[in-house]
Amino acid sequence: MKELVSDLRERFAESGIEDLLRHFLNEYGHRIALASSLGAEDQVLTDMVLKIKPDARIFVLDTGRLPQETYATLTATRKHYGRNIEVYFPDTAAVEKMESDMGPDFFYESVANRLYCCQVRKVQPLKRVLGTLDVWITGLRREQAPTRTGLQRIEWDETNGLLKLNPLIDWSTQQVWNYIREHQVPYNPLHDRNYPSIGCAPCTRPVAPGEDLRSGRWWWEKPEHKECGLHYHNGKLLRRKAYEPTGETGESKHLHPA
Ligand code: ADX
Ligand code: SF4
Repeated sequence: MKELVSDLRERFAESGIEDLLRHFLNEYGHRIALASSLGAEDQVLTDMVLKIKPDARIFVLDTGRLPQETYATLTATRKHYGRNIEVYFPDTAAVEKMESDMGPDFFYESVANRLYCCQVRKVQPLKRVLGTLDVWITGLRREQAPTRTGLQRIEWDETNGLLKLNPLIDWSTQQVWNYIREHQVPYNPLHDRNYPSIGCAPCTRPVAPGEDLRSGRWWWEKPEHKECGLHYHNGKLLRRKAYEPTGETGESKHLHPA
């Protein structure tokens, strides 16, 4: 796979984003999809992707804890493009057990607990979708976080065994917003209230001027922990070794994911 990826990187080294997307969307049909959190980057990609291929697949992982503004953005996006967007939920029994054992807000108590919640609510549903794909497209940008600086436009996702395209990897925040304005793309109203990065409601807050882009995500954790498990790099989730819940929050051993 290393060879495939280095060939692809070489082949598309000088290509524009639209050409890159057009090639993969045409080549992979319904085995390629955009993962959308409905954040600014993903709205840019939604616009690009649907202009190239109006029936392209786009999916949202609905953790069940998203802010109402994100649902409003989903509604606005569906209307704007006259399109359905796929929505995936976490496993009902897993969420019921997690919350029964640990309570609704156990993720504030340790990084391991938080990663565990992300595992149940995001990562497992993601794996379900990725099982239907050969390529997934994300809105990752290097500028977003210290954990993302080594990422390339085309990656082999070793953890999930498929190609991963990060078309906006070297875009600045300014480029994202220029595109949104120029193309009148619908966007999450929370961005206008100092939320540059938006995830689940209980784990996202606005940032102060000068703070980094993701400082409002899991604000109680150190920057090097701030990934949720959707994005591994070289098979590793940052510096975490396991998802074992810790702390005084109940019967954690029963909850270790399979
Ligand atoms: S996260 O891993 O910390 O949650 P972030 O919010 O920066 O990620 O988003 C990075 C990329 O991950 C997005 O551009 C999108 O491709 C994907 N992503 C994040 N959250 C979701 C979601 N709820 N549904 C689908 N894709 C998502
Ligand atoms: Fe759970 Fe927060 Fe992760 Fe959402 S972001 S899945 S609420 S820990």
